[in-house]
Amino acid sequence: MKFFIDTANLEQIKEAQALGILDGVTTNPSLMAKEGITGETNIINHYKEICELVEGDVSAEVISTDFDGMVKEGEALAALNPQIVVKLPMIKDGVKACKYFSSKGIKTNVTLVFSAGQALLAAKAGATYVSPFIGRLDDISTDGMNLIEEIRLIYDNYGFETEILAASVRHTMHIINCAKLGADVMTGPLSAIEGLLKHPLTDSGLAKFLADYQKGN
Ligand code: E4P
Repeated sequence: MKFFIDTANLEQIKEAQALGILDGVTTNPSLMAKEGITGETNIINHYKEICELVEGDVSAEVISTDFDGMVKEGEALAALNPQIVVKLPMIKDGVKACKYFSSKGIKTNVTLVFSAGQALLAAKAGATYVSPFIGRLDDISTDGMNLIEEIRLIYDNYGFETEILAASVRHTMHIINCAKLGADVMTGPLSAIEGLLKHPLTDSGLAKFLADYQKGN
């Protein structure tokens, strides 16, 4: 399972990278705004900085909602660095743009996916990644994990190569459950990734080992 970090915060990206388990980064316009990154030039420069920090894929989202605009924006983003994955919304023109980019060998991430039908369309359009938003489904009392399970089944039935990128991951149990269900990738905040480290028996066990070592010295 690949681990992506879902942030535009360079310090957090560096921290996850330093842990040695990071496979990529996802961003979105809200995450950029949260870091105060506004305006086309600053956003472009920020993507370049992120690409320098990590070795894997970096999802950069288009703002346009029409086919021509998405193609223009996506081509400019993809030209920044081979690590860039063009992130496209799951709307009619987004599907068309996904097909356009996949036929040109440009990586894509179809985002804002909330149903198996949407995921099927993304795969048919040749998406590199499909991003089902599990946390936002949970927010409206719908089990996000069911969606991961459905997409896994459908993709396996037909051998679709589109990778299931579980998005809107909020906590460690989301990561564990996605791993159980066979999601190819998860993207989440640093807190969810670091949460995997924690267990009270690890802490108490280590404290005891160190105390016993001190006794013998
Ligand atoms: C995915 O690519 C999105 O950036 C993200 O996972 C959305 O997460 P949220 O629902 O916590 O905003």
